[in-house]
Amino acid sequence: MSDVSAHYDGSAPSYHEQYDSDLIWKNDEYPANYFRLQKVIEILRERGASSVYDLGAGEASPVIAIREALGVEIRASDVSPEMVRLGKDNLTKHDMDPEWLTLVDIRDMEAIKAEAAEVGQFDAVIALGVIPHVEDDAWFVEAMSLFLKPSGTLILQFRNSMFSMFTFNRLTKEYILEELMAPVPQKFKDVVAADLDQRLAVDKPPVRRREDGHGYDEILSKFNNPFELAEVVKARGYTDLSYRWYNFHPTYPMIANGIDPQEYRQAQIDLEADTSWRGMFLCSAGMIIATKAP
Ligand SMILES: C[S@@+](CC[C@H](N)C(=O)[O-])C[C@H]1O[C@@H](n2cnc3c(N)ncnc32)[C@H](O)[C@@H]1O
Repeated sequence: MSDVSAHYDGSAPSYHEQYDSDLIWKNDEYPANYFRLQKVIEILRERGASSVYDLGAGEASPVIAIREALGVEIRASDVSPEMVRLGKDNLTKHDMDPEWLTLVDIRDMEAIKAEAAEVGQFDAVIALGVIPHVEDDAWFVEAMSLFLKPSGTLILQFRNSMFSMFTFNRLTKEYILEELMAPVPQKFKDVVAADLDQRLAVDKPPVRRREDGHGYDEILSKFNNPFELAEVVKARGYTDLSYRWYNFHPTYPMIANGIDPQEYRQAQIDLEADTSWRGMFLCSAGMIIATKAP
């Protein structure tokens, strides 16, 4: 499996484009992270946070936008040297201190503890797009907690495994057999597998590779089950858990290109306002919002 840091070193130079409001209609890819950031800012505003730590902050576009919108104190870290280099430039360009962003690997417990001791605790800790790349969910939540004040707000993004129940493709097959049917005898799974091969588009989606061998599907980029991840968060003493969904799919992705792209994108954007249970199935990603114990 390829190295996560090498993947993000390669995508760092164009990363800011997803947060450019002028490109919402022009980008080929739906700018899901733009809408995620708007939701994060809204949550932080509602919660009255005055300081925010961003774990896996990339090239700092989101945390800079948060400070500009809310005037909060910020600190951040990331594992990719190129993200951190560009992030420092980015902070400087926005009249902010480049030292606010440091190079830290969240998997390195000693380094994370040292960083937390250095920067202290914050009203909110966010980690957007990072847990997919880290094996140990329990440590990930613990690491976030180290930076969070008692009664502070945790915002933890994850790739939503439940979305596979709406994609009718290879991911649906894998999810049904490996997760939903986990306790069912292998004999039954074999029958279901053969049946699903007839019903589902098991040749889709295409694997996202890159010429340098560090494509998104060539690194660890796992999905999380929203119920199981919520249990991990609760086990660390968090209360008041809720989900916020984003990256809505008005149809399952493989038939989307049969619809006018502008109409499709408008429907995606309109759905971003939906806060109901539907997001658990229509969205490829979500966030858990929770309050740390006092
Ligand atoms: C999808 S990007 C998101 C960046 C930023 N949070 C945003 O919302 O734009 C994921 C980021 O997590 C960082 N990352 C991945 N694994 C990490 C780790 N073990 N420790 C720290 N950062 C990590 C990557 O380098 C990358 O910048």
